[in-house]
Amino acid sequence: MYMKTLIAANWKMHGDLSWVQKPAEFRKLYPAGAGQVEVLLCPPAHMLLAMVRAARGLDIAIGAQNCHDKASGAYTGEISAAMVAETGADYVILGHSERREMFGETDAFIAAKTKAAQGAGLTPIVCVGERRAEREAGQAEEIVGAQIAGSLAGEIDGANLVVAYEPVWAIGTGLVPTLEDIAIMHDHIRGCLARRFDEATARKIRILYGGSVKPANAKDILALVDVNGALIGGASLEMDSLADIARQA
Ligand code: PGA
Repeated sequence: MYMKTLIAANWKMHGDLSWVQKPAEFRKLYPAGAGQVEVLLCPPAHMLLAMVRAARGLDIAIGAQNCHDKASGAYTGEISAAMVAETGADYVILGHSERREMFGETDAFIAAKTKAAQGAGLTPIVCVGERRAEREAGQAEEIVGAQIAGSLAGEIDGANLVVAYEPVWAIGTGLVPTLEDIAIMHDHIRGCLARRFDEATARKIRILYGGSVKPANAKDILALVDVNGALIGGASLEMDSLADIARQA
């Protein structure tokens, strides 16, 4: 089954408006059409609109890092899926472990956001991943399976969905699971998605790996059968390292 590898940059709470030159900078290093790779930049919310404009004509998608499940209302500090879509962004990262851990996001809340994002015409990237103690206790697959079931509960369209496996202990730490462990988990996630939707739908859902992806390890990770792209934090802030990773795909 053919699908374009998705190289997604999660800039987290980094950057300023001068970063609008980054899409052009990236394209100088990695021209459009150089490989079968879709590139996605997810900046902080204040630069979404400017980034969408800066990326126009460069074949680079733009995404948000979060959105709320309600369309509008008294939710100080939040941004709705429709507001994200209005900027021209195409994607939204949901349920990142930093949001689950620091902001108490539950699977049910993430499922509601996922539905809202799809309703607004966005493609959600739903993140799952176990903590270190859970892996050490041999519970990684069970935890991730429960996150998949809970975060994709309800009326979710499997045809407009990306899933990212990001072990919490690998994010920003330089630690990465073994290739075998990544392969086992991605296969497990594919199976969970087949049970949640159906085999044909599951085969078309891109499953990204995230957690300390760097130019040095990207090639081996991206070569794994059920790894359909990467979600990259630290190594995505510099365009030369992001382009290096895209070249490995
Ligand atoms: P990292 O972050 O690449 O810096 O480990 C990945 C992520 O949090 O999405």
